[in-house]
Amino acid sequence: MNLPRLITCLCFLFFFVGSLAAEEPRLTQKRMAGWEAQMELFQRALYRHDYKKMADAMAVIEQTPEVHPKVQAALKATLEQREFNDYMKLDHYIRTNASLVIEQAGERDIQKLLIHQGRLIMACIQCHDTFLAKAVNAVRQAKH
Ligand code: HEC
Repeated sequence: MNLPRLITCLCFLFFFVGSLAAEEPRLTQKRMAGWEAQMELFQRALYRHDYKKMADAMAVIEQTPEVHPKVQAALKATLEQREFNDYMKLDHYIRTNASLVIEQAGERDIQKLLIHQGRLIMACIQCHDTFLAKAVNAVRQAKH
Protein backbone atom coordinates (compact mmCIF):
# COMPACT_ATOMS: atom_id res chain seq x y z
CA MET A 1 0.00 0.00 0.00
CA ASN A 2 1.43 3.40 -0.91
CA LEU A 3 1.67 6.28 1.51
CA PRO A 4 -1.28 8.46 0.35
CA ARG A 5 -3.55 5.44 0.49
CA LEU A 6 -2.34 4.52 3.93
CA ILE A 7 -2.97 8.07 5.13
CA THR A 8 -6.47 8.06 3.63
CA CYS A 9 -7.20 4.75 5.33
CA LEU A 10 -5.94 6.02 8.67
CA CYS A 11 -8.06 9.16 8.32
CA PHE A 12 -11.17 7.05 7.75
CA LEU A 13 -10.28 4.83 10.68
CA PHE A 14 -9.83 7.78 13.06
CA PHE A 15 -13.03 9.37 11.79
CA PHE A 16 -14.93 6.12 12.31
CA VAL A 17 -13.59 5.48 15.82
CA GLY A 18 -14.11 9.14 16.69
CA SER A 19 -17.74 9.15 15.63
CA LEU A 20 -18.38 5.97 17.60
CA ALA A 21 -16.89 7.56 20.70
CA ALA A 22 -19.09 10.63 20.25
CA GLU A 23 -22.20 8.45 20.25
CA GLU A 24 -21.28 6.47 23.35
CA PRO A 25 -24.39 6.02 25.43
CA ARG A 26 -24.37 7.63 28.83
CA LEU A 27 -24.30 4.78 31.27
CA THR A 28 -26.65 6.18 33.91
CA GLN A 29 -29.15 7.53 31.42
CA LYS A 30 -29.27 4.11 29.80
CA ARG A 31 -29.78 2.43 33.18
CA MET A 32 -32.56 4.91 34.00
CA ALA A 33 -34.31 4.61 30.65
CA GLY A 34 -34.38 0.84 31.21
CA TRP A 35 -35.86 1.21 34.68
CA GLU A 36 -38.41 3.76 33.51
CA ALA A 37 -39.54 1.44 30.71
CA GLN A 38 -39.98 -1.45 33.15
CA MET A 39 -41.91 0.78 35.59
CA GLU A 40 -44.32 1.64 32.79
CA LEU A 41 -44.75 -2.01 31.87
CA PHE A 42 -45.35 -2.78 35.54
CA GLN A 43 -48.00 -0.09 35.79
CA ARG A 44 -49.85 -1.39 32.74
CA ALA A 45 -49.75 -4.93 34.12
CA LEU A 46 -50.97 -3.69 37.52
CA TYR A 47 -54.21 -2.30 36.14
CA ARG A 48 -54.81 -5.57 34.33
CA HIS A 49 -54.06 -7.69 37.43
CA ASP A 50 -51.47 -9.47 35.34
CA TYR A 51 -49.12 -10.79 38.05
CA LYS A 52 -46.89 -12.56 35.54
CA LYS A 53 -46.14 -9.38 33.63
CA MET A 54 -45.69 -7.41 36.85
CA ALA A 55 -43.10 -9.96 37.97
CA ASP A 56 -41.42 -9.95 34.54
CA ALA A 57 -40.95 -6.17 34.66
CA MET A 58 -39.56 -6.30 38.19
CA ALA A 59 -37.24 -9.16 37.25
CA VAL A 60 -35.52 -6.95 34.67
CA ILE A 61 -34.95 -4.29 37.35
CA GLU A 62 -33.82 -6.88 39.89
CA GLN A 63 -31.26 -8.25 37.45
CA THR A 64 -29.75 -4.87 36.57
CA PRO A 65 -25.99 -5.23 37.00
CA GLU A 66 -24.10 -3.33 39.70
CA VAL A 67 -23.52 0.39 39.00
CA HIS A 68 -20.74 0.47 36.39
CA PRO A 69 -17.25 0.74 37.97
CA LYS A 70 -16.57 3.87 35.91
CA VAL A 71 -19.71 5.53 37.23
CA GLN A 72 -18.77 4.48 40.77
CA ALA A 73 -15.31 6.00 40.33
CA ALA A 74 -16.78 9.24 38.99
CA LEU A 75 -19.25 9.41 41.88
CA LYS A 76 -16.51 8.73 44.43
CA ALA A 77 -14.50 11.59 43.00
CA THR A 78 -17.46 13.97 43.36
CA LEU A 79 -19.36 12.89 46.47
CA GLU A 80 -18.30 12.55 50.09
CA GLN A 81 -17.80 8.93 51.16
CA ARG A 82 -21.03 8.98 53.18
CA GLU A 83 -22.97 10.33 50.21
CA PHE A 84 -21.44 7.75 47.90
CA ASN A 85 -22.50 4.98 50.31
CA ASP A 86 -26.04 6.37 50.38
CA TYR A 87 -26.16 6.47 46.58
CA MET A 88 -25.12 2.82 46.36
CA LYS A 89 -27.58 1.85 49.12
CA LEU A 90 -30.47 3.47 47.27
CA ASP A 91 -29.48 1.66 44.08
CA HIS A 92 -29.44 -1.67 45.97
CA TYR A 93 -32.72 -0.82 47.70
CA ILE A 94 -34.38 -0.57 44.28
CA ARG A 95 -33.27 -4.06 43.37
CA THR A 96 -34.13 -5.54 46.79
CA ASN A 97 -37.66 -4.17 46.57
CA ALA A 98 -38.05 -5.38 42.99
CA SER A 99 -37.29 -8.85 44.28
CA LEU A 100 -39.86 -8.47 47.11
CA VAL A 101 -42.48 -7.34 44.58
CA ILE A 102 -41.78 -10.49 42.52
CA GLU A 103 -42.28 -12.58 45.66
CA GLN A 104 -45.66 -10.97 46.38
CA ALA A 105 -46.69 -11.28 42.73
CA GLY A 106 -46.12 -15.02 43.14
CA GLU A 107 -48.43 -14.95 46.20
CA ARG A 108 -50.87 -12.74 44.29
CA ASP A 109 -50.94 -10.49 47.35
CA ILE A 110 -51.71 -7.06 45.91
CA GLN A 111 -51.56 -5.22 49.27
CA LYS A 112 -48.04 -6.35 50.14
CA LEU A 113 -46.95 -6.05 46.52
CA LEU A 114 -47.96 -2.39 46.50
CA ILE A 115 -46.13 -1.71 49.77
CA HIS A 116 -42.84 -2.86 48.22
CA GLN A 117 -43.60 -1.16 44.92
CA GLY A 118 -44.27 2.06 46.87
CA ARG A 119 -40.89 1.76 48.63
CA LEU A 120 -39.22 1.17 45.30
CA ILE A 121 -40.78 4.29 43.79
CA MET A 122 -39.81 6.34 46.85
CA ALA A 123 -36.21 5.24 46.36
CA CYS A 124 -36.31 6.47 42.72
CA ILE A 125 -37.51 9.85 43.92
CA GLN A 126 -35.23 10.00 46.94
CA CYS A 127 -32.12 9.40 44.84
CA HIS A 128 -33.16 12.04 42.32
CA ASP A 129 -34.02 14.53 45.10
CA THR A 130 -30.78 13.99 46.95
CA PHE A 131 -28.28 13.36 44.21
CA LEU A 132 -29.42 14.60 40.84
CA ALA A 133 -27.84 18.02 41.20
CA LYS A 134 -24.65 16.61 42.71
CA ALA A 135 -24.24 13.41 40.75
CA VAL A 136 -25.34 14.37 37.30
CA ASN A 137 -22.03 15.74 36.10
CA ALA A 138 -20.13 12.82 37.55
CA VAL A 139 -22.31 10.17 35.95
CA ARG A 140 -22.34 11.98 32.62
CA GLN A 141 -18.56 12.08 32.47
CA ALA A 142 -18.30 8.35 33.17
CA LYS A 143 -18.49 6.78 29.72
CA HIS A 144 -17.72 3.28 28.46
C1 HEC B 1 -29.08 5.65 43.22
C2 HEC B 1 -29.59 6.79 42.52
C3 HEC B 1 -30.76 6.65 41.60
C4 HEC B 1 -31.87 5.86 41.76
C5 HEC B 1 -32.19 4.90 42.90
C6 HEC B 1 -32.73 6.11 40.62
N1 HEC B 1 -32.17 7.03 39.80
FE1 HEC B 1 -32.98 7.77 38.09
N2 HEC B 1 -31.38 9.00 37.88
C7 HEC B 1 -30.25 9.01 38.66
C8 HEC B 1 -29.28 9.94 38.12
C9 HEC B 1 -27.89 10.23 38.68
C10 HEC B 1 -29.87 10.50 36.97
C11 HEC B 1 -29.27 11.55 36.01
C12 HEC B 1 -28.61 10.84 34.85
C13 HEC B 1 -28.13 11.82 33.79
O1 HEC B 1 -28.90 12.72 33.44
O2 HEC B 1 -27.01 11.63 33.30
C14 HEC B 1 -31.19 9.89 36.85
C15 HEC B 1 -32.11 10.18 35.85
C16 HEC B 1 -33.30 9.52 35.63
C17 HEC B 1 -34.19 9.75 34.52
C18 HEC B 1 -33.97 10.78 33.42
C19 HEC B 1 -33.05 10.15 32.37
C20 HEC B 1 -32.71 11.08 31.23
O3 HEC B 1 -32.40 10.53 30.15
O4 HEC B 1 -32.73 12.29 31.40
C21 HEC B 1 -35.23 8.88 34.63
C22 HEC B 1 -36.40 8.71 33.69
C23 HEC B 1 -35.00 8.08 35.83
N3 HEC B 1 -33.82 8.51 36.41
C24 HEC B 1 -35.83 7.08 36.25
C25 HEC B 1 -35.63 6.38 37.43
C26 HEC B 1 -36.53 5.36 37.92
C27 HEC B 1 -37.81 4.91 37.26
C28 HEC B 1 -35.99 4.92 39.11
C29 HEC B 1 -36.53 3.89 40.04
C30 HEC B 1 -36.94 2.61 39.51
C31 HEC B 1 -34.76 5.65 39.33
N4 HEC B 1 -34.59 6.52 38.30
C32 HEC B 1 -33.94 5.48 40.42
C33 HEC B 1 -30.05 8.29 39.83
C34 HEC B 1 -30.96 7.40 40.36
